[in-house]
Amino acid sequence: MTNKVMPTYGRLNIAFAEGKGAWLTDTEGKQYLDAFSGVAVCNLGHAHPAVTAAISDQAATLIHTSNYYQIPLQTELAEKLTALSGMEQVFFCNSGAEANEAAIKIARKYGHNKGIDKPVIIVMDGSFHGRTLATLTATGNPKVHAGFEPLVAGFVRVPYDDLDALKMAIGHWPEAVAVMLEPIQGEGGVRVPDADYLAEIRDLCTQRKLLMMLDEVQTGIGRTGEWFAFQHSEHLLPDVMMLAKGLGNGMPIGACLVSGAAVNVLQAGNHGSTFGGNPLACRAALAVLDVIETDKVLQNVKTLNAVMVRGFEQALAGQEGVKTIRAAGFMFGIELLIPCFELVQQALDKGILINVTADKVVRLLPPLVINRDEANQIISTVSELIIDFLASKAVDSVA
Ligand SMILES: Cc1ncc(COP(=O)(O)O)c(C=O)c1O
Repeated sequence: MTNKVMPTYGRLNIAFAEGKGAWLTDTEGKQYLDAFSGVAVCNLGHAHPAVTAAISDQAATLIHTSNYYQIPLQTELAEKLTALSGMEQVFFCNSGAEANEAAIKIARKYGHNKGIDKPVIIVMDGSFHGRTLATLTATGNPKVHAGFEPLVAGFVRVPYDDLDALKMAIGHWPEAVAVMLEPIQGEGGVRVPDADYLAEIRDLCTQRKLLMMLDEVQTGIGRTGEWFAFQHSEHLLPDVMMLAKGLGNGMPIGACLVSGAAVNVLQAGNHGSTFGGNPLACRAALAVLDVIETDKVLQNVKTLNAVMVRGFEQALAGQEGVKTIRAAGFMFGIELLIPCFELVQQALDKGILINVTADKVVRLLPPLVINRDEANQIISTVSELIIDFLASKAVDSVA
């Protein structure tokens, strides 16, 4: 039988039948430790009992009505997300790309409201914002653009973590209305910017009346040890924040939050989504937020981040093929000097799910609820894999 699914993904030859916590079981019955969480989605692990119960109960009660009507669970979730973040309003959608589309529309409308006919959004090299036409244009990776030109107008790009370049772009583009970026670049290789980078951008945006739009699709919902990555910087609030991934722990839901100058920019009829914020997705997200709070999940991330960083630094000390180890909460990037995609399959063979991004970066995004034993297992297995891989390459180059 030929596979009738479009070949848009380079899939590994494995399928999973079930999961529990940080563990997945494949269709042959073999177990794997999940250090990837379905790309930072299953932050509470697989089949979390509280999330499962909430979804089951809601599915048996009411799955979908429509945004033509009041949706109390949506109101409740908006209340909760604004309280946690300090933002003021929320638009609900179904994915990260859609949350970013909403942000891009807000920026353009904000510009038009100020009399700017051709608003420009400043975006970053190395970024990833999604696969729709506008979000792939915003994405700073030529491979994502290739074959889809003409790209959407109204974006200019600057190097990430380079304030001078950003200042120059702002000076050069009087039509600039927003700066859109990830607080830590995920797909770009777990790139953690300078400590004061976001605060400086906040100041620049305030001075120039630009919207600061933070794509927290990957970093949000506890991934970095705070609810949102911007909360690592004191007194900082973006004008727009985009969420998805971990918000539903696998139930598709995205959100675009606004504060300050971005509030009420979108009015009735300006934007919408049939499924966005339906009762089922909102109930799942409310359960996720509740578990993160009651189980002190952020504390677990902070404690085990320190354990894992120390563990990797010790285990990989002296490995010349390791360029750097970067981490923020439970986002780990171990950058090698050589491309290392083979490691993904080698890790599977050893019973662990990892990812390689930006060619040379081993990226780990474990569920936020792993325990110390699981953290230690990730450190030892992944370090051993990297050491063996580098040794095999050194032998290759000698031979
Ligand atoms: C930072 C960031 N933004 C946006 C997206 C796109 O999200 P989605 O695949 O849900 O559209 C991703 C996905 O990896 C992401 O990491």
